[in-house]
Amino acid sequence: MSTPLRSPGGFPVVGIIGGGQLARMCAGPAAELGVTLAVLAEAPDASAALVTPFAPVGDHTDVETVRDFARHCDVITFDHEHVPAPVIEALVADGVAVHPTPEALLHAQDKLVMRRALTEAGVPCPRWTQAATEEEVTTFAEAVGWPVVVKTPRGGYDGKGVMLADTVDDVRDWLSAAAERGETLLLEERVPFVRELSVLLARSPSGQAAAWPVVETVQTDGICTEVIAPAPDLEPEAARAATLVGLDIAAALEVTGVMAVELFELADGSVVVNELAMRPHNSGHWSMDGAVTGQFEQHLRAVLDLPLGSPRAREPWTVMGNVLGGEPTDLYPTYRHLMARDPELKVHLYGKGVRPGRKIGHVNVSGSDLADLRERARHAADYIQGVIDE
Ligand SMILES: Nc1ncnc2c1ncn2[C@@H]1O[C@H](COP(=O)(O)OP(=O)(O)O)[C@@H](O)[C@H]1O
Ligand SMILES: [Mg+2]
Repeated sequence: MSTPLRSPGGFPVVGIIGGGQLARMCAGPAAELGVTLAVLAEAPDASAALVTPFAPVGDHTDVETVRDFARHCDVITFDHEHVPAPVIEALVADGVAVHPTPEALLHAQDKLVMRRALTEAGVPCPRWTQAATEEEVTTFAEAVGWPVVVKTPRGGYDGKGVMLADTVDDVRDWLSAAAERGETLLLEERVPFVRELSVLLARSPSGQAAAWPVVETVQTDGICTEVIAPAPDLEPEAARAATLVGLDIAAALEVTGVMAVELFELADGSVVVNELAMRPHNSGHWSMDGAVTGQFEQHLRAVLDLPLGSPRAREPWTVMGNVLGGEPTDLYPTYRHLMARDPELKVHLYGKGVRPGRKIGHVNVSGSDLADLRERARHAADYIQGVIDE
């Protein structure tokens, strides 16, 4: 490995393990702050590697590779949740500053660990259990009612490790696959939520925390497709309560960096926690253009233990539309039409190859007419995806 070049003047190097779009979107704020970004990438053309001069390719599950990488960095943080705990613990033992810490991160890596810790901390959760056998599935489902939500505790994303089971037959394959991996499954009651919310916040090692306005997230087939900031018609008291749930979790788990708490809002306005992500999150992409401090800048500030920036929204509303891979593979030609049509639109594409359903970018648009913003964000995402052609 060569070494990353530092800005003169005492500026640090932040190392990110994983070269996905979340690492990539740290590059803009890092450049503005004079901070050098280093990325341990999956491939030379990984999303973040395309925009980061120091992006060695290496296996994030290999201790020596990660150690080698960390030697060049003042602090290590993550693009994803898949770095094994023993690898991170080895860095900590070497004296490397790692944020979030492996103890905190485990709650975002393993949904069973998360459920246990939150339940113990008195945080509202769906009714849940751990199941290894068909009997355990049936007993739980009969107590809470079919259908139940079945989850693989580790490694799922974009709904891939989540299934709605109507009968025990639906769970059989997952039980045996889990057993082969030496795991059990997480079962949850199906929460009759009215919508999904997300609390995004940052917490620094010194304990300072800052939360963005609570947002509404819209999922389609398990993938986030739209985010509205702030969540429409959320009573100030309910927003406060949701934010406090997030801040309490961050303090209890000693989270450092950005964390998203995915929430279900119930008909009575109360919330239960769905899951945690300890990194910048899709539900915070709106903040890049819609808040005084975007989540990627804030994550850098937090992991460097710098004072946090204001999370205040700049406009009454910001709508984020996710761009998923569709038929067209040439995306750049869409810019001319989109940019001419809507000069206030902000387009963020991640430099990723197009595959159907893959998150390849997002758009943000801010203003005061929510219906108009939603329409414009939807239009732009559809146009890039090739769903519409004008
Ligand atoms: N207990 C539940 N009740 C109802 N819907 C759920 C439940 N758990 C998850 N879901 C739905 O599935 C989606 C994905 O589940 P989640 O645990 O967030 O998985 P992922 O890690 O893939 O994001 C959620 O955003 C929600 O729409
Ligand atoms: Mg989720």
